[in-house]
Amino acid sequence: PYPHYAWLREHAPVYHDRDLGLWVLSRHDDVATALRDSDRFSSDTGGPWSDLSANPFNPSMKVAAPVARAARRLPAPRVLLTSDPPDHTMLRRKVSRAFTPRRIASWEPRIRQITERLLSQMTARGGRVDLVRDLASPLPTTVIAEMMGVPPERQDRFRRWSDKAIDGLLTNGSLRSTLHGTAAMSAYFAAAVRKRRRNPRDDLISLLVTDGDEAPLSAGELVTFCILLLVAGNETTTNLISNTMLALMDNPRAMEMLQADPGLAGAAVEETLRYDGPGQGLLRLTKADVTFGDVTIPAGHRVLPLIASANRDPRRHPDPDAFRLDRGRTDHLAFGTGIHFCIGHALARLESTVAIESLARLGLTPRPAGTPERINSPVLRGLRTLPLTLT
Ligand code: HEM
Repeated sequence: PYPHYAWLREHAPVYHDRDLGLWVLSRHDDVATALRDSDRFSSDTGGPWSDLSANPFNPSMKVAAPVARAARRLPAPRVLLTSDPPDHTMLRRKVSRAFTPRRIASWEPRIRQITERLLSQMTARGGRVDLVRDLASPLPTTVIAEMMGVPPERQDRFRRWSDKAIDGLLTNGSLRSTLHGTAAMSAYFAAAVRKRRRNPRDDLISLLVTDGDEAPLSAGELVTFCILLLVAGNETTTNLISNTMLALMDNPRAMEMLQADPGLAGAAVEETLRYDGPGQGLLRLTKADVTFGDVTIPAGHRVLPLIASANRDPRRHPDPDAFRLDRGRTDHLAFGTGIHFCIGHALARLESTVAIESLARLGLTPRPAGTPERINSPVLRGLRTLPLTLT
């Protein structure tokens, strides 16, 4: 997609796609403006999370009428990702104490253990691996399941639900599958919330149902938030780990530097967030007319701020198409910016850094063993498979 983004930035930085009914922003400053100005750019877009009966990225994809009817009958509690202030402010305050840097950092030893276990299973296979299946996918799902207190024997099922729920976001995905995955998770979390209210334990759900100065989240809000964590956190982190490995294999100099000094893993992950991040674009709805240069986007229109294009804008990032470990900057927009800035950024960075660093410490050289298969989505960027040999 990157040559297309470059064309847009130069020739049509505020591009109106009439077929999709979308205004596409591609320059860093315009994308950052749209994300920071939550007064004029609403997150309540009628997008994939707020209306399961329509997919804004793929309007031609229709859902069966009974499924659409069922989706509309589901309770619609406020969702952090798609709400505006004051609801957003209230929800964010209640959940953010579960994601403080200290709390996330306390997970590091456990994340290292899980990674070591996955790596030893991988090397036991004799050096031929699929990085997605063997490491990038199970790591974040296992970690979040443990954080939520899901018992080990239920974690496989958990992963399947989360995969199903994400399916509707993919171009060829099925909204029926999204709905079924979401329904299964809702039932599971509703029961978990009831149990933790009676018997709080040392996990994320207990933290969210118990202490805090304010009125706790409603059961519906809690269930929705748990689902949001899986959907927003698993696939994205999986993609970050795989995209980092792919970028390193495509840039042998960077790979050599990492092999010589595994402590550079954090820099490789950070550069991948800028260079080939898991999320390409976000969605907003204008609440007023907004002017960029000589183009005015009218109120009530959908806007696609292309964060991945902003991250390659040479006005912001010198030599943007080069993958470099020495940039030392974190001012990319891969985690968004403004009030919706990713609540899981520290966790995603930690998991991805531990994964890449631990792989580098094995002292084995990863080489492609077949063509990696991309996921098919206009908004998510990552790999379905990344076959490798480790020699
Ligand atoms: C929000 C990206 C991992 C939970 C966001 C946003 C972005 C993003 C761009 C802003 C959305 C917007 O402005 O509309 C990513 C990427 C990740 C990642 C690239 C991995 C590399 C995670 C993880 C979790 C998480 C691990 C939790 C376990 C959330 C939540 C929000 C969010 C709950 C909504 C915050 C709000 O609306 O206030 N993420 N994310 N994310 N992310 Fe992440």
